[in-house]
Amino acid sequence: MEIRKVPYTEAPIELLLEADPSVEKIKAYLPGSSCFVAMLEGKPVGACVVQCIAPAVYELMSIAVAPEYQRQGIGSKLLRHVVTTVRDMGARRLEVGTGTFGYQLAWYQREGFRVFAIDRDFFLVNYKEPIYENGIQLQDMLRLAVEY
Ligand SMILES: CC(C)(COP(=O)(O)OP(=O)(O)OC[C@H]1O[C@@H](n2cnc3c(N)ncnc32)[C@H](O)[C@@H]1OP(=O)(O)O)[C@@H](O)C(=O)NCCC(=O)NCCS
Repeated sequence: MEIRKVPYTEAPIELLLEADPSVEKIKAYLPGSSCFVAMLEGKPVGACVVQCIAPAVYELMSIAVAPEYQRQGIGSKLLRHVVTTVRDMGARRLEVGTGTFGYQLAWYQREGFRVFAIDRDFFLVNYKEPIYENGIQLQDMLRLAVEY
């Protein structure tokens, strides 16, 4: 597997939709972001987008792996690559927002992220359609960060 940094105009939106159901939101955060794509046999199988949100502070806006390639270690390799690359770009901190339950929350913490805040009602206020995971409606967002 190879990880490439690509211009935001080449970001694989269909992959990013696995992490965020709103194409408008994806198109709004892509300009000004850095996009990393995991390639396998010439095909994009994973994508991650990060954006600088304050001096030396970055946010992981999205990370996704194509469903048929999930649980093969691609997402973890991509996340570690981005954590290291953002540190090398001069970041002191990398933040991410995720739901209050689900495997993603455990996964980020396994990769070194720690919860620092809760954004109550985030998914109710920011999305027109309700979002369900494991049959539970997402309401609040947990904010996590890696400190370098
Ligand atoms: C989150 C995501 C990027 C992880 O990528 P991945 O390539 O599947 O991750 P890995 O293979 O490195 O798996 C890492 C660990 O995460 C957990 N995990 C990943 N997918 C899981 C699933 N569907 N159910 C339960 N646990 C899962 C497992 O603990 C896994 O380790 P294991 O397979 O050794 O048990 C990917 O599952 C995905 O695209 N999900 C949908 C989009 C999304 O939720 N993005 C994050 C938004 S906050």
